[in-house]
Amino acid sequence: MLAAMADADLGDEQLREDPTVNELQRRAAELLGQETALFVPTATMANQIALRMLSRPGGELIAEERTHVLIFESGGPAVHSGLVMRGLPGVAGQITPEQLRRVADQADEFQPASVVVIEQTHRSSGGRVWPLEELAEVVTTAREVGLAVHLDGARIMNASVASGIPAAEYGRLADSVTICFSKGLGCPLGAILATSDERFPEAWAGKFLFGGAMRQAGVVAAAALYGLQHHVDRLADDHRRARRLADGLAEAGLPVDPDTTDTNFVAVDVASIGMDTAEAVRRIGEQGVRVGVLRPGVLRVATYLGVGDDDVERAVELIPGALSVVART
Ligand SMILES: Cc1ncc(COP(=O)(O)O)c(C=O)c1O
Repeated sequence: MLAAMADADLGDEQLREDPTVNELQRRAAELLGQETALFVPTATMANQIALRMLSRPGGELIAEERTHVLIFESGGPAVHSGLVMRGLPGVAGQITPEQLRRVADQADEFQPASVVVIEQTHRSSGGRVWPLEELAEVVTTAREVGLAVHLDGARIMNASVASGIPAAEYGRLADSVTICFSKGLGCPLGAILATSDERFPEAWAGKFLFGGAMRQAGVVAAAALYGLQHHVDRLADDHRRARRLADGLAEAGLPVDPDTTDTNFVAVDVASIGMDTAEAVRRIGEQGVRVGVLRPGVLRVATYLGVGDDDVERAVELIPGALSVVART
């Protein structure tokens, strides 16, 4: 990846003259089932540009209640786009067409239901994959009730590899799609916002407004192109290792349901064994294993391209001990 970055052809990205950025944008639009795409530094920026593009101030943003745009983007939809944020309870990160219809019915002209955000995979539920058919039904309902649809596909390639469904099948359903390169695809930074030709001018204006118009950005786009070429198929290894981790931790008596590990996250419900998440993270960290928090009370143990089979076996051995759980025999 570093060699690809060093070799990249460069130009002024603000003038649309960086050939590497242009190539990435072309490839990403195709990958995501959209007509056009623009390169930005982060997935948060891509999401925020999309929301501003798809809504009007005073409208409602509707999403499952632990969707990234609602809880991890510093109130951006309210600050940048004047949106009222409404979180709906979901299962595995998914909301239903009925929920959407109810919310739209309750809205009025002064606070119209405006845009729905779907997250694929859904981070806080543990990297769960939203099945295509159910996702399509929610999108159909959104269209019927006049909502725009943004797909936060920061980890859409994990969903694609896990389900065997091309990313474009999910992406083409939405008005705009985010993909992030700095997660499983292993790049230092970078994201794409893909959308239609018709919406492009507004997206492009948003890129400037949010400070995401860059100069010789091809040096980073080259990393993203490399990630798309070399780091997609291997996501299956991350998923296999996460499943092994989930099975191993469950066998050791930890509160883990391996059937909820669709992709590269394992959820450990430490609250159910009376442990505080910060304390659990600290104890496991003392054993040399870094874990994070998935949602309140639940740890996230993630696999990625820096984690091999031996690392997984070590984690299976060390995490239960760190949490003082005696293995079931
Ligand atoms: C679902 C989802 N969307 C967006 C983002 C934001 O990504 P970035 O850190 O590139 O802004 C994240 C980051 O974890 C995420 O999980």
